[in-house]
Amino acid sequence: MARLVSTALCALGRLLLVLPLALLLVTGFGGEALAAQWSADQLTVPANPDGTEVTFSEQEIKSGRKLFNNSCGECHAGGITKTNQNVGLDPETLALATPARDNVEALVDYMKDPTSYDGEYSIADVHPSLRSSDVFVKMRDLDDNDLRLMAGYILVAPKVQGIQWGGGKIYF
Ligand code: HEC
Repeated sequence: MARLVSTALCALGRLLLVLPLALLLVTGFGGEALAAQWSADQLTVPANPDGTEVTFSEQEIKSGRKLFNNSCGECHAGGITKTNQNVGLDPETLALATPARDNVEALVDYMKDPTSYDGEYSIADVHPSLRSSDVFVKMRDLDDNDLRLMAGYILVAPKVQGIQWGGGKIYF
């Protein structure tokens, strides 16, 4: 009898341990994280000009996409620049900017104080940025982490979408 009780208690204990874990897996991480779509390679991008890399999670890139579409999408949907097709968000164009903008740090810097393509002068007056959030109200609620997530999305998108991101003009 005592053994039966202890076995039952033991089983109950195990159930109590497993149940919350299972619930966490199902509800906490959501279906998206369980069904991985993108490889670690696609999620890994340059963090700074020194070549240090950073690997984002899919969830971070999805948040970055949402923020980007909301704050930047009216001009940069799909990685192009509507009013200046020469200065798109494709990796090649970013790499050739001064300073090079093909890493997270430099993109975050651009969102704080954007410069002309040759790096000569600030264009914060005409381009959305934290510096000009009095004019560009969508920039008001963004914090440093939001900027980091949008930069991540800008760099991961071409690795996932290929030439569709930025129009792929250099490929034709
Ligand atoms: C009102 C339209 C508009 C909005 C909104 C906008 N941009 Fe831009 N963006 C431009 C234009 C125009 C340029 C080209 C500037 C130039 O002539 O150098 C540009 C250039 C850039 C560049 C430089 C690209 C390169 O190849 O050097 C980056 C990076 C960028 N934008 C990021 C963003 C991000 C991130 C957001 C959202 C937070 C955003 N932009 C919102 C119009 C916009």
